[in-house]
Amino acid sequence: MAGLFITFEGGEGAGKSTQVQRLAERLTAAGRETVLTREPGGSPRAERIRASILAGEGKPYGPLAEALMFCAARADHLETVIRPALARGAVVVCDRFSDSTRAYQGSRGEVDEAVLGALERVVVGETRPDLTFILDVPAEIGLERAAARRQAGREAADRFEQEDLAFHARLREAFLAIARREPGRCRVVDATQAPDGVAEEVWSSVAERLGVTERQREETTA
Ligand code: TYD
Repeated sequence: MAGLFITFEGGEGAGKSTQVQRLAERLTAAGRETVLTREPGGSPRAERIRASILAGEGKPYGPLAEALMFCAARADHLETVIRPALARGAVVVCDRFSDSTRAYQGSRGEVDEAVLGALERVVVGETRPDLTFILDVPAEIGLERAAARRQAGREAADRFEQEDLAFHARLREAFLAIARREPGRCRVVDATQAPDGVAEEVWSSVAERLGVTERQREETTA
């Protein structure tokens, strides 16, 4: 069975963690081996880099080095988790991936887009996502949701949640621009609607994609 690589992207408070969870449950119920993972992190070594980045330890090194930290984590995650899972035919569902580097590290304009593109080619290579859901919410709503979540859990804002509204508005634009450039891979989902509605939209795309790959497989083996 062919593996399938699905990623979820979006700004803060878009509801990604709920949606990745729900999709993974549905895939498992449909009998597919499913690997639910996240970035930054997703493997033991990459999780150590994640803790360091989110604590703000990368910031003093400057934007390029911080982008390289995300890439170092991604290289390990790909090598030890994602590629082996795809090779054995699993569906990989990943909460954030390389579009987050393009959007977050690119939106400040501190790291050249061409440099980010080159890093992506080297680190990700052929292991590009088959399907990417961009959960879209206006920056104000996303930041409000993230603040409410923090209050409920008494968490502190992490390195990127502390950025201002203008940055988050640019971020949203950056994700939408990626979706416009790669319409075959990306699906923009209105994440202001209730979680059930988002989950249904996501599932119908995934089910369609799995149907297509199964049909193609039948054709190639016939
Ligand atoms: P996380 O707590 O997982 O945020 P969220 O719940 O919004 O996904 O923290 C990940 C943070 O790291 C998030 O603010 C986005 C940022 N990030 C980047 O800046 N570049 C990247 O390549 C990735 C994967 C994440």
